[in-house]
Amino acid sequence: MRKNGNTLQTVRFATLLLAVMFALAFVSPFPVQAEDDEAMKYLEKARLDAEKAKADAAKAMAEAEKAMAEADRAIAEAEKNKAAAREAKEDAMEKMVEHGYFPDDISLDTPDGSVRAVFSHKKHTQRERLRCIECHPKVFVMKKGKNVVKGGALTMEEMKKGKYCGNCHNGHKAFSVNAIDSCKRCHPKNR
Ligand code: HEC
Ligand code: HEC
Ligand code: HEC
Repeated sequence: MRKNGNTLQTVRFATLLLAVMFALAFVSPFPVQAEDDEAMKYLEKARLDAEKAKADAAKAMAEAEKAMAEADRAIAEAEKNKAAAREAKEDAMEKMVEHGYFPDDISLDTPDGSVRAVFSHKKHTQRERLRCIECHPKVFVMKKGKNVVKGGALTMEEMKKGKYCGNCHNGHKAFSVNAIDSCKRCHPKNR
């Protein structure tokens, strides 16, 4: 009996040991730990990548801001040059006047002579104090007969839209090209 009892105890113990080993083989935390390590490595890499992308974006932004500031400086410089060029042009025109090139009254005639408009440089520049560049070359090319719309002449239609004489003769800066009583001021021989 005693011997049998011992054997039974040994078998029980062996069985328990096997069971524990069997269980350990399945619930062992080690394989899970390995997976966690993989995930952590991946996360760390993603974090580093994101940090690098952020740094790159900040660098690109700083460069864009620098380029913008440079462009603004270039624009300011160009505007200064433009103003200086306008001044130089105005001076050159005044020299023209000084040297006797000042054009006096001009008549703008349609090729068939049916319509004649008169324009006085003297009244516009000396009396009204308009500067040459207020008309040349934006409003009028500085050459007699070069400002034509159709049929070798300017048209009232364009002037009513605010072009040529209509740039000022719009009822605000000067009497309007539309006013029926003002036709004869520009067309003294046409009523
Ligand atoms: C209010 C507008 C205006 C102003 C200001 C003006 N002009 Fe004119 N200018 C004209 C017009 C209009 C013509 C005729 C254009 C045409 O015939 O097509 C003209 C023509 C000329 C011509 C060409 C003459 C020709 O025979 O070819 C010269 C040169 C000229 N202008 C010089 C000047 C000068 C210099 C100043 C400043 C002192 C000046 N203009 C101011 C409107 C203006
Ligand atoms: C500020 C000056 C000005 C006034 C005001 C003006 N004109 Fe003119 N008109 C001109 C000039 C400049 C021309 C062009 C002449 C040319 O190029 O030979 C012209 C051309 C014309 C022409 C021929 C071309 C076309 O458009 O058919 C007619 C017609 C004419 N005007 C009618 C009139 C009548 C009508 C009025 C009044 C309602 C008037 N104009 C007011 C300056 C004026
Ligand atoms: C840059 C502006 C400007 C342009 C362009 C202009 N004028 Fe004038 N003009 C004036 C001003 C300002 C007056 C004086 C104010 C008024 O009489 O209403 C005037 C006055 C006149 C007068 C009256 C002169 C007088 O005896 O008192 C005539 C005519 C005239 N313009 C014709 C013309 C014709 C024709 C053209 C186009 C070829 C023209 N103007 C283009 C600004 C302009």
